[in-house]
Amino acid sequence: MATAPRRPLVSGNWKMHHDHIEALHTVRDLGLRLKPEDVARVDVSVHPPFTDLRTVQTLVEADNLPIGLGAQHCNDHDRGAYTGEVSPQMLARLGTRYVIAGHSERRHVFGMSDEAVAATVQAVLRHEMTPILCVGETGEERAAGQTEERLTLQLTAALTALDPGAVASLVIAYEPVWAIGTGTPATAVDAEDACLFVRQTVERLCGAEAAERVRVQYGGSVNAENAADFMAEPDVDGLLVGGASLDAATFVEIVRASQPGR
Ligand code: 13P
Repeated sequence: MATAPRRPLVSGNWKMHHDHIEALHTVRDLGLRLKPEDVARVDVSVHPPFTDLRTVQTLVEADNLPIGLGAQHCNDHDRGAYTGEVSPQMLARLGTRYVIAGHSERRHVFGMSDEAVAATVQAVLRHEMTPILCVGETGEERAAGQTEERLTLQLTAALTALDPGAVASLVIAYEPVWAIGTGTPATAVDAEDACLFVRQTVERLCGAEAAERVRVQYGGSVNAENAADFMAEPDVDGLLVGGASLDAATFVEIVRASQPGR
């Protein structure tokens, strides 16, 4: 039986940019620019800072915008004495659909371990949201020929406790650390090689069906000019976009460049 084609997901990770007023303007602008044909075959999500989520949720619901609400991180506990943290339960109550887990900035700036990333993925799934699990090697690891080893370790830590059905529902973002925010993206061929390796690793860990269904994004210096090249690769099922997602017009161009069969 042929499996349904994977539906691309284009996600805008705003990081620590746009306060809630700027978020209001950006999402309103996105809503005006995104046409039904742009989202007929592509899913779109935005991941604003926590303080913006309620504003964006209200707008998305009121205007029925074709945008999935996303968060950038969460704690793995539902409540408790965790000063400064936000729980997956709180995000789920707000209608959040996607939560980024283990972004390289969480791993490298805030010391998030592979184990903490795995706990976050499980917590997000427990609340019926979709984790966007980030993996990727540093420049030093790449130079030392350790890309596949690093990806294997990160994927094994995050996926082994999950059942294959849950893995099939995940999004995994391959984001090489050296390409993030540097203006130096991976080549489309390198992105494809790594995304294929991610899929093969999922197959080894969780079986063929999970590997066939899991969506693998590329992220790292994606822009309106290079998006179509990444999306033309067979194992790249979407994009995780940082800087270029802050401007609605540019982000919509990236969504348009991500249409299947374009
Ligand atoms: P840039 O697109 O700004 O390189 O950021 C990528 C990223 O980290 C998205 O999560």
